[in-house]
Amino acid sequence: MCGVVLVLAVLGAASRAAHALDNGLALKPTMGWLHWERFMCNIDCDQDPNNCISERLYMQMADVMAMEGWKEAGYEYVCIDDCWPSHQRDAHGRLQADPKRFPGGIKKLADYVHSKGLKLGIYADVGKNTCAGYPGSLGHYETDAQTFAEWEVDLLKFDGCFMNWTLLGEGYMNMSRALNKTGRSILYSCEWPLYEWPFHKPNYTAIRETCNHWRSFSDVYDSWSSVKSILDWTASHQDIIVPSAGPGGWNDPDMLVIGNFGLSHDQQESQMALWAIMAAPLLMSNDLRDICPRSKALLQNRHIIAISQDPLGRQGSRTAKVQSFEVWERPLSQGRLAVAVLNKQEIGGPRGFAIQAAPGWKVCDPQCNVTQILPQYKELGVLTPQSNVVISVNPSGTALLTITPVSSDSQRLHTRYWLDTIKHNQVTL
Ligand SMILES: *[C@@H]1O[C@H](CO)[C@@H](O)[C@H](O)[C@H]1NC(C)=O
Ligand SMILES: *[C@@H]1O[C@H](CO)[C@@H](O)[C@H](O)[C@H]1NC(C)=O
Ligand SMILES: *[C@@H]1O[C@H](CO)[C@@H](O)[C@H](O)[C@H]1NC(C)=O
Ligand SMILES: *[C@@H]1O[C@H](CO)[C@@H](O)[C@H](O)[C@H]1NC(C)=O
Ligand SMILES: *[C@@H]1O[C@H](CO)[C@@H](O)[C@H](O)[C@H]1NC(C)=O
Repeated sequence: MCGVVLVLAVLGAASRAAHALDNGLALKPTMGWLHWERFMCNIDCDQDPNNCISERLYMQMADVMAMEGWKEAGYEYVCIDDCWPSHQRDAHGRLQADPKRFPGGIKKLADYVHSKGLKLGIYADVGKNTCAGYPGSLGHYETDAQTFAEWEVDLLKFDGCFMNWTLLGEGYMNMSRALNKTGRSILYSCEWPLYEWPFHKPNYTAIRETCNHWRSFSDVYDSWSSVKSILDWTASHQDIIVPSAGPGGWNDPDMLVIGNFGLSHDQQESQMALWAIMAAPLLMSNDLRDICPRSKALLQNRHIIAISQDPLGRQGSRTAKVQSFEVWERPLSQGRLAVAVLNKQEIGGPRGFAIQAAPGWKVCDPQCNVTQILPQYKELGVLTPQSNVVISVNPSGTALLTITPVSSDSQRLHTRYWLDTIKHNQVTL
């Protein structure tokens, strides 16, 4: 009985999401680090050598990622964003790194990152120029894909500035084919829907066939209002975007800004919990060389990462709004469920939320095993729909739970196992 339920759940997931880009990558949401939100287009290496966009920055991040538990936690990609190239292509029409800031060149940097057991990401743009005005890839897709492959780059973030929107899809698809043609597995991160939404409802089936993840909404900023605006956009478009997510391709709500300046600790917990529920890429943009221990522990929390990386690969969605709480739920493998309860009342103190009010509580009929992961790890034990459990959630904070159904079948199996054990023990005694 249990086995049948499991098979149906897997089949349901497979038929639900359209075909993913077939490059064998991003079978789980990508994890890593990306420079943009924290370091932006800081190219002043004379005045600010520690924080400017230079090979040193990525080498130092790779060192820290390899040494301080990030790699073990699953963070794998060290990603360059805009402002890395020279303003001129070379004599063969190839992109080249700024020679002053990247004296070793990108191939050497990739070798260094690989020597740490990590992967390197790079950035380019589907249009005439990058967003910061560096050379774009329009008219050079094959050359640029080939260059990145020769440099042994592992991920391409492909932005959408300075592109006629009617050609966006064509451009993104052409680059996808060009990457495939190189024969190197390069994870392909797109912004196609973000640039198309102002004009036209994007075709998420085509996007999933083309890209490994895709941005739909504005850049994240280091503020709670920015994180909230991303959650609001996602919830209000969930009927369109959630079905497009699955192994091989994911909706990308942009970087984690945990460990920076703008979010309180409760708000950082909310971002981490909701990004896990959304099956979002976990690309941190912060300074790993200098991060407070609480933020580090949150980003490395293995229980939250397990939700993010759950093998069923389904994105969660917002399922209820009650009394300024939002309930978000993500189906997990083996019939389990992750539930996040976000307290959106930004006045007063902690408020109680009776978890019977969550739609996911139906998993608990007749019984379920509930584990609270945020704000503290706590095994709440086996509960029924009659159990009266109230969790406390701080203003702009989130309680994150996993719920495992305890079916009467597995109870019976459990009981039989014990009876068999007792019998067996009696025989051997
Ligand atoms: C290129 O695409 C084909 C067919 O879609 C796929 O089998 C192959 O693995 C891809 N190669 C790379 C390097 O992504
Ligand atoms: C965008 O491309 C379309 C179709 O190729 C063309 O008709 C239109 O003139 C272009 N717009 C601009 C601003 O270049
Ligand atoms: C995409 O590739 C096709 C076929 O090579 C070409 O005709 C078209 O102009 C390309 N579009 C863009 C935006 O590069
Ligand atoms: C969306 O893209 C898919 C796959 O490329 C295609 O089969 C489908 O016709 C497109 N849908 C629309 C409405 O254009
Ligand atoms: C409930 O889940 C916790 C955490 O996974 C586990 O340690 C515990 O054994 C489970 N309890 C039951 C009765 O299944």
